[in-house]
Amino acid sequence: MSQPLRIAIIPGDGIGPEVVGVATRVLEVLLGELSGGFELVPLEAGWGTFQRTGSALPAETLASARSCQAIVFGAVSSPSGRVAGYSSPILGLRRELDLFANLRPIVSAPLPASRPDIDILLVRENTEGLYSGRERLEDGGEVAIAERVISRRASTRIAEKALALASERGERTGRRPLLTVVHKANVLRETDGLFRDSVLAVAARYPEIEIEEQLVDSMACRLWLEPERYDVVVAPNLYGDILSDAAAALVGGLGLAPSANVGDEHLLVEPVHGSAPDIAGRGIANPIATLRAVVLMLSHLGETRAAARLHATIGHCLAEGPHTPDLGGSASTREVGDAILERLASSSLGNGDYRDPASCPATGNH
Ligand code: NAI
Ligand code: MG
Repeated sequence: MSQPLRIAIIPGDGIGPEVVGVATRVLEVLLGELSGGFELVPLEAGWGTFQRTGSALPAETLASARSCQAIVFGAVSSPSGRVAGYSSPILGLRRELDLFANLRPIVSAPLPASRPDIDILLVRENTEGLYSGRERLEDGGEVAIAERVISRRASTRIAEKALALASERGERTGRRPLLTVVHKANVLRETDGLFRDSVLAVAARYPEIEIEEQLVDSMACRLWLEPERYDVVVAPNLYGDILSDAAAALVGGLGLAPSANVGDEHLLVEPVHGSAPDIAGRGIANPIATLRAVVLMLSHLGETRAAARLHATIGHCLAEGPHTPDLGGSASTREVGDAILERLASSSLGNGDYRDPASCPATGNH
């Protein structure tokens, strides 16, 4: 018999626990049907944890997360401004677990709020750039400097991931894949220049993939005007972060957008959104982004039938309702969760396989 699947659950702050609560209920149903068994491992991290313990990412959380096959992360609140001893736990987890690729599928939803015919996979470099944490004050606080680190190693690695995924998508759709390389090398000649050159060097090994370059500012405009023309997009860390929130607005908003943080050894899935303090505690957060992140996780873990079942259930819920207020409805987080669970109960395993748009060979540290 196979080993039980161990999944770490890190709810975090704000709406994190609300949306992860739904994901946990859904996972208990889906994984309960797996033959090998499963264990959900609740772990703490975030601003609340920092206030209680003095650490936003306690050593026990990191160690337990490391020992699990996958992690479901909600969202954390990070203060805008320096707080002694605080650093973002999601950045810490990405760095410590070497989750070097952040895969963000942006796909049309059956909703009036979504534009049609969009199927983009945004591949964001996840370990460096302006998120390297190298910031300092000079001149007695009159000047603030952030160092933007781009390495050939990280750029090559993200290029390899993006090109492999583009190739796989091409095989699945039968269309010639397109990889759009986003940068600003006309101004940031050294840093974005190295990113661009590294990606193009790997791309030369994939003649079957069409490669184009797009400067990040005009990318923001063209993404809005012609989103349906894009296929796989690869970008340095900050550009990928910003473009993915913008792209989410084309297909129903942040309440629907999932992401998978992928490394060679570990996997962490999370919604693209943050802790949404403006709606936290009101029970109206949309849990679909987190449920879609669970679909990505199941698909990456090779549980393609469970992924297919949840994917179909989410599609039905989007088409038929109930909807939370961000989608124009009046349902609560719990009511959407109940509807998903009801529909899951009336479906069963064996509905076919599901390979997610962001899927890639299963990561496995065990
Ligand atoms: P946000 O993503 O939390 O919220 C932006 C807007 O989208 C808000 O109006 C919010 O109500 C709405 N929204 C987000 N998720 C939603 C959902 N599931 N259902 C319905 N509406 C939803 O971004 P914001 O406001 O810029 O940041 C708030 C906090 O979140 C900050 O402390 C920030 O540091 C943190 N953050 C954490 C992230 C993480 O843990 N991975 C990622 C982004 C932000
Ligand atoms: Mg973001």
